[in-house]
Amino acid sequence: MPNKELENFTEHFTDWDEYYKETKVEVMPWYEKNLDHDLENELESNNYNVGNFLDLGTGPGTQAIQLSKYNFDVTGTDISKSAIEKAKKLSNEINFLVDDILNSKLADKKFDFIFDRGIFHIFDVSQRPQYVKQIKRILNDNGILFLKCMSIDEKNLSDDDMPHKLSKQEITDAFEDDSDVLRIDDTVYNEAYGIKPKALIAVLKKKFP
Ligand SMILES: C[S@@+](CC[C@H](N)C(=O)[O-])C[C@H]1O[C@@H](n2cnc3c(N)ncnc32)[C@H](O)[C@@H]1O
Repeated sequence: MPNKELENFTEHFTDWDEYYKETKVEVMPWYEKNLDHDLENELESNNYNVGNFLDLGTGPGTQAIQLSKYNFDVTGTDISKSAIEKAKKLSNEINFLVDDILNSKLADKKFDFIFDRGIFHIFDVSQRPQYVKQIKRILNDNGILFLKCMSIDEKNLSDDDMPHKLSKQEITDAFEDDSDVLRIDDTVYNEAYGIKPKALIAVLKKKFP
């Protein structure tokens, strides 16, 4: 195990709320104050800056906060009540809500854009169709999902540790019936677990209708 944060994380990953209750968000492995560089590149290169934007599994809320600096109307959801309580203290402009994406109560076709930074890769293969179904339901026609997940090429983290490491083919298999796969590229997460873990960034456009 690379470092103490990961030890702390793997002990608690089965109970997200407990983890957020007892841990400062700044020491969580995924904490990134700035906008994720892959999402920033996508927004800048496509001139995306308005619309309803969901930061799914918002956790520390940092990505939602960075997105609110554009002209987006931002919602941040997380399964953890403690995470949402903490995030709410950071901004009044963002609609922070407790919501489980697998049983989401969000309205149909609500979002033009969704950012998933580290949620899809939590779920087991058997849960993926339910995730895809909910994303399809809450995305607007032609809406876009930006998906960032751990890559199968990341060899420094044990396969026993959370999260799952994914291949490009697994992402394609999960989404291609409902989405046009615009791109899936190799990238990295910023510093986490004491390294820069290899990651994938996928851009998936909901098929219309
Ligand atoms: C790896 S963290 C990423 C947090 C955030 N996206 C970021 O990049 O800082 C995964 C997040 O997903 C949340 N989560 C786990 N299962 C979820 C679910 N079923 N629905 C919504 N959020 C979930 C966790 O509470 C946690 O905040």
